[in-house]
Amino acid sequence: MIIGITDGVTYVASDVPAILKYTKNVYYIGNHEMAKLVPGEATFYNLDGDVIQKDITEITFSAEAAEKGGYEHFMMKEILEQPDVVKATMNSVIKDDKIDLSSVGLSDEEIKNISNITIVACGSAWHVGMAAKYVFEDLAKIPVRVELGSEFRYRKPLLDKNGLVVVISQSGETADSLAALREAKDRGVKTLAIVNVVGSSIAREADSVFYTLAGPEIAVATTKAYSCQLVSTYLLALQFGLIRGEIEEVEYKNYIKELQTIPDKIQRIIDDKERIQWVASKFANVKDVFFVGRGIDYAIGLEGSLKMKEISYVHSEAYAAGELKHGTISLIEDGTLVIGILSQDDLYEKTVSNMVECKARGAYLMGLTTFGHYAIEDTADFIT
Ligand code: BG6
Repeated sequence: MIIGITDGVTYVASDVPAILKYTKNVYYIGNHEMAKLVPGEATFYNLDGDVIQKDITEITFSAEAAEKGGYEHFMMKEILEQPDVVKATMNSVIKDDKIDLSSVGLSDEEIKNISNITIVACGSAWHVGMAAKYVFEDLAKIPVRVELGSEFRYRKPLLDKNGLVVVISQSGETADSLAALREAKDRGVKTLAIVNVVGSSIAREADSVFYTLAGPEIAVATTKAYSCQLVSTYLLALQFGLIRGEIEEVEYKNYIKELQTIPDKIQRIIDDKERIQWVASKFANVKDVFFVGRGIDYAIGLEGSLKMKEISYVHSEAYAAGELKHGTISLIEDGTLVIGILSQDDLYEKTVSNMVECKARGAYLMGLTTFGHYAIEDTADFIT
């Protein structure tokens, strides 16, 4: 719940966009807190009736950012916003071609002493965690475990006092993720939140916060916040890698340069949307869709598959490409759509061979790969 204040008027709403037209000054009310509202003023109390002081938060995004702006759906608008918001998120920590985590509140000393990382999240944010595991282990050589918030909170996970628990959440309010954060804090483990909504419960309660700058995400199924979360984990892993001496300065600089090309690359994909819409209409009535990939491509497939289910109401599964043959391949039949994700050169041939196995069973193959991998045209029926 939030409380908005302006001259002579007080508003109560469940989220900021509802009152943005009227005020940008809001209070976040926490659990076990009460508020007495009079026009233009709010006083806060704990359950004993003692007054508590709260700071007002000024919302930085505009009312227009939370409106459809001529688009038919918020989701379409949010997909198209990705290049800008990913750039804004990167720019918030890249200063003079270096990553500066001072706004996050993580010191070099703390980063050096982290023994392991536990990432806890739900839904798409959990998929970001699955991708981040590969990146952190690769760049920073820190062991990473990825947990679902709804599982973590109901068991007794082993947590090391020198570990770091990273909670990823767009809203900062998902109950299972919040409960996991509290569990970690109760056990005295340092917490870092990657959150989009300023002032949300997870942002307020975590020891350090990396804010994604996706702006308001109105569509329930995340798109732009997911992309910002992904890039945030890359930035963190890169900085951890440098500080812990796992990557050289030159390599670090090259990665930063590469990261800075991502917004334009996303734009290039968006510019190709007519082709993507064409293939989507061709497969709109498909019964099953399988996403296959290895390593980080598997993690990306998990998200693609969730979107397919949630947005298109089409049954879909994501598989680590090498695992498909252990039973599930029996579900591949004539016309089943299999989307192979092929973004890594070293795993390319391996995944292609798994796609060929599906083709032998009648699957229609789509290859999702980076520009220049034209050889995939020999195998896949459609390439993007
Ligand atoms: C789900 C949404 O209900 O919540 C997903 O449909 C989202 O898109 C998930 O990833 C978790 O939400 P949050 O706010 O914690 O990132």
